[in-house]
Order: sequence, then structure tokens, then C-alpha cells
Amino acid sequence: MEDDRSSEIDLNTDNIQRVNLRDWYKPMSFYQIWVRSFADGNGDGIGDLYGVYDKLEYVKSIGVDGIWFSPIYPSPNADYGYDISDYRDIHPDFGDLDQFKKVLKRAHALGLKVIMDLVVNHTSDEHPWFVESCKGKDNPYSDYYIWRDEPNNWDSLFEGKAWEYNKERGQYYLHIFAKKQPDLNMDNPKVRQEVKDIMRFWLDMGVDGFREDVINFISKKEGLPNGLPFLPAVNGMPYYKDGPHIHEYLAEFRKVCDDYDCFQLGEGPMTTVKSAMKYLTGPTKSLDMMFSFDHMMADCLYTEYVHRPFSLIKLKKAFTKWQYALAGKGWNALYLENHDHPRIISRYGSEHFWRESGTMLAASYIFQQGTPFIYQGQEIGMTNIKLMSIDQYVDVSSITNYHTYHLKEDPERRLHRIHLSSRDSARTPMQWDDTENAGFSRSTPWFYVNPNYHRVNVKKEDADENSILNFYRKCLSLRKNSKTLIYGDYTEHFPKDKNIFMYERSLDSESYLVICSFSRLPVKAHKPAKFAGKRGELVLCNYPDEPVSYGGVFDHVEQELSEIELKKGYFRPYECRVYRYYT
Ligand code: NOJ
Repeated sequence: MEDDRSSEIDLNTDNIQRVNLRDWYKPMSFYQIWVRSFADGNGDGIGDLYGVYDKLEYVKSIGVDGIWFSPIYPSPNADYGYDISDYRDIHPDFGDLDQFKKVLKRAHALGLKVIMDLVVNHTSDEHPWFVESCKGKDNPYSDYYIWRDEPNNWDSLFEGKAWEYNKERGQYYLHIFAKKQPDLNMDNPKVRQEVKDIMRFWLDMGVDGFREDVINFISKKEGLPNGLPFLPAVNGMPYYKDGPHIHEYLAEFRKVCDDYDCFQLGEGPMTTVKSAMKYLTGPTKSLDMMFSFDHMMADCLYTEYVHRPFSLIKLKKAFTKWQYALAGKGWNALYLENHDHPRIISRYGSEHFWRESGTMLAASYIFQQGTPFIYQGQEIGMTNIKLMSIDQYVDVSSITNYHTYHLKEDPERRLHRIHLSSRDSARTPMQWDDTENAGFSRSTPWFYVNPNYHRVNVKKEDADENSILNFYRKCLSLRKNSKTLIYGDYTEHFPKDKNIFMYERSLDSESYLVICSFSRLPVKAHKPAKFAGKRGELVLCNYPDEPVSYGGVFDHVEQELSEIELKKGYFRPYECRVYRYYT
């Protein structure tokens, strides 16, 4: 298929080799919609595709180029949509296929791509395939799932052991996630054919690609060996992550996508750079981008439930490791929030310096090399909700964590862990204005609205020139209009600085220097030696007034740099600035 974006790319650039014309997703940015909490159009308290339709202009106004829909298929909601009972329909809470087609058409008319969530590591236990599979060992679906007479010792990631006994069939089935999410047997060619048919179903309708859920888990090691007993929850992971046939299976899926020139973004829990390279580059390339997790662990160990103090050094190491590894070879998917993580201001920023840290965090990732993703509510600075009791939480993993780990701690402390870690914080209704229910619904919303909606809402943010929302708009517009910010090289400066994250993007003679303070106190920063004596143009700053002095970055404690002519200046709490230089 001819790529219609080729006209947007300057063919005269010396750097044409960097730009593969078919990689249309590279200059783009995406907005993730978790429909249940986005906007309720039919007044039943649940977000739906009628609400989405009404808000498409808003989405467009942020400056993104596409939407990723978390699963919108029929689902009993054991894992809020990630347990699918029908891959070819729309959840009745959200509308129907006709309404989806209207959304798709309108999104396309607005120039927005639409990416669907493809969840094929597992289905719901209410999917007809599983219902049939339970009936016995000799029906067409009996090998669609992973059945054993004796379970191995694997734990599930969401609910106790990874095996559940099914009385009807008289065997155990594997579920790496919740009990109601049985794992598909991807070694069965019929299952892979089903996946390809599902992909074609949505691609034929006109969608532009897929975000593929836990895609690095779909091939399990033959024999399903026991895992190491001292690794709770993840003991089976070495045998189901990057499994033996993963690249063969993904090559099959890739072929489908090639027919449509769509893109594939794989979610890669616990993926390392080394394993990601196999998905993103070379003869086994099957994905265009991967969601990696390293940078989401700067304040926790593997899961946010095992909390530790935020470390900027850890965050910078993670960012930079991926930027350097993929440079010139692969492409990053950039994100700080999605439906699986608590809100980023409450984690890496400060609710006290809410506007400052919310804006700074935007600049800390949007200008890196890769395609930025913004999760609903992130752009207006939504923060974590703190519910009074564990009984008010609905996310299966939060509930399990609370009842399984740290049991010696008192309940208050354990609830505090949930406040810090729960995925439910990302799933509270979108705050549109300061009317009842935050303008999300005319009826009582399905889940608690964050009480800060009087202060934090789209209407207010839209009207304030210096708001977080308008800062996101500025960032996306700056990036969209700069080849350097899209394709340029990434270099980190001063990686050991505990307060400042500074990175440069450069292409030909142009450089952008992005400087982000993660400190709640004023801090001095260094000026990289290569810019000594050069005047940079301040193109973006998250404090409305001018910085204290030109280029305030400048001055620092280290001897070597005091020799450089630097103007003195401090970064105010969570201040960020972007300078453009010509060398
Ligand atoms: C990753 C999804 O993002 C998450 O929400 C889900 O619970 C698991 N995969 C299982 O599907």
C-alpha cells in the first residue's frame, strides 16, 4: 500500500536513511482510552463509545494522531476487558459494532488512527472456546487451552496458583493471570489461525494496528517445567516469557499486518533490551514497538505494590538504556501512564507541586526518541485516589496483593500500599468539569470519582494558558514540527545528577536540550561542555514567567564546568526548559 505520509517527510534531508517511509507511526503520538471511565454518553454511569464519539474533537485538540482503545469487546470484566468472551463484537456496556464504526469513521475523518487491543495470551473462561474445551478431550476446542492432569508449581500473576481444576473436564487449566483468564494454547495451529482471523476482522473494518497484550508470554516452554520456588508470583516466568516459538508465531501475525500496512505494538512485561531487540530488529522483527517496563520501576520492584522511594537515577538509567540500545535500530514506545499503573504525578512528581511536576513529567518523556503515548487524564494531571477500605477497590490484582502480601503489617499500612500502587487509580472516571460526577456521567458513575475534580478537570485546564493540558499541547506541537525531536539522536548529559534529567536530541546542526528538575527544592544544573559559549533559544518552559536568567541551567558545583562561561541560575521546583541550539 502506498504510504500517504511520504509527502510530510522532506525527501531532501541528508538523513533520509533514518526515515523509512512505511514507518508512518514514528512522527505520531497516541492517546489511550480506557472506555469504561472516559465519557458516559448514554447516561448509565459507564463510559461508552457514544461518549467517545462526543469527545473525539477534544482528543484531536490535544495534538495526538491516534487512539489506542483498551479492550472494548464483550467481557465479564474479571480483569476489566482483558478477559474477552467474544473477539468480534463490542461490549454491550459500550455500544455495538455500528457505534464503533461511527467512532472509527469520525476518528479517521479527524486524522486520527485507531489501534485496538489484541489480547490473545488468554480469553475469558466464558468464551465459547473455553466452555467447549471444558466439555472433554475430544471436541474441536479441547486443545485450545493448556490442560494438565497435574499442575506444576507456577504461581499466577493475579490470583494464587496458576492452575485451576475444572470438574467437568477433570483436569487443571493454566491461567497466568486471573482464574477467569485461561491461557490459550498457541502451539495449536488452529488457535493461531483464530488470532489471524480476528486480526483481519478488525483490519478489514479499517483499524490501523494493534497493541498486543503480554505478547511475549504466548509461547510456553515444552513440558512446562517447575519454576524456582523462591520467586513468588513470577516463578514460571522464565518458562513462558520469550518462549521457544514466540518469533515463529509472531512472524505469522506480522504477515497479516503487512497486508494492511498497519502497525503492531507489543506489550512486553519484564522484557529486557536484549530480548526486545529480537522482536524489534533483524530477521525476527515482528513488532514495530514494545512497551517496556524498566522505567516504571523507579519507585518499586516489579510491581508498584512493592514500593521503594523514587530514584531519579534509576529512572534516568532506564530511559537512557532503552534510548541508546534502540538508536538507529528500533523504535521506542514512550509512556509514563496507562491503565495498569498509578498516576505519575503521585509517583514521580509531587501532588504539592502538581502543575509544575505534571508539566515537567510531560517534557521528560515526550521529547525522547519514540512514539509518545498519553493515557486519558494524564494530560490534565489526574492523581491517585485514596479510598477508605480495600472493599472499595475493584481491580483483581490490588485485591489479591492486599490479601496476600505483607500480611504482618497492620491493615492501615497495607491500605496505604494500595493507595500507592493500585491500578484503580488510573481507572477513576475522567474529570471533564466541576459539575456533579465531574461531568463524566448524568448518573452515579460505576466507580469513584476522584474528589479533586473541582480543581482538576478538562474545562479548567483548557481555559488556563499555563495548565498541564496546554503544556502537553505545546510539547506535542513542538515535537510534531521538528524532525530533530522525532528522528534526532538522543544523548543524556550528567547521568549522575540526582536532581536533574538532561537529554539532548540532535540532527545535523540542530540540537534541543531538554532539562527537567525532579527536585522540590531549587537546584543548579550544569551546561554541557559542547554548548559552552553558545546561546540557546528557550523554546519551552513550564514556568509561565521567564527563567531567572538566560539559560539558567548553568553554573554548578563541578570544577571543570566553572571554567565554561555559564550564566548563574537555578531551576525552580520541577522546572523544565527546552533550549534549541545551532552548532
Ligand atoms: C496487561 C494489561 O495491560 C493488563 O491490564 C491486564 O490485566 C494483563 N495484561 C492481562 O491481560
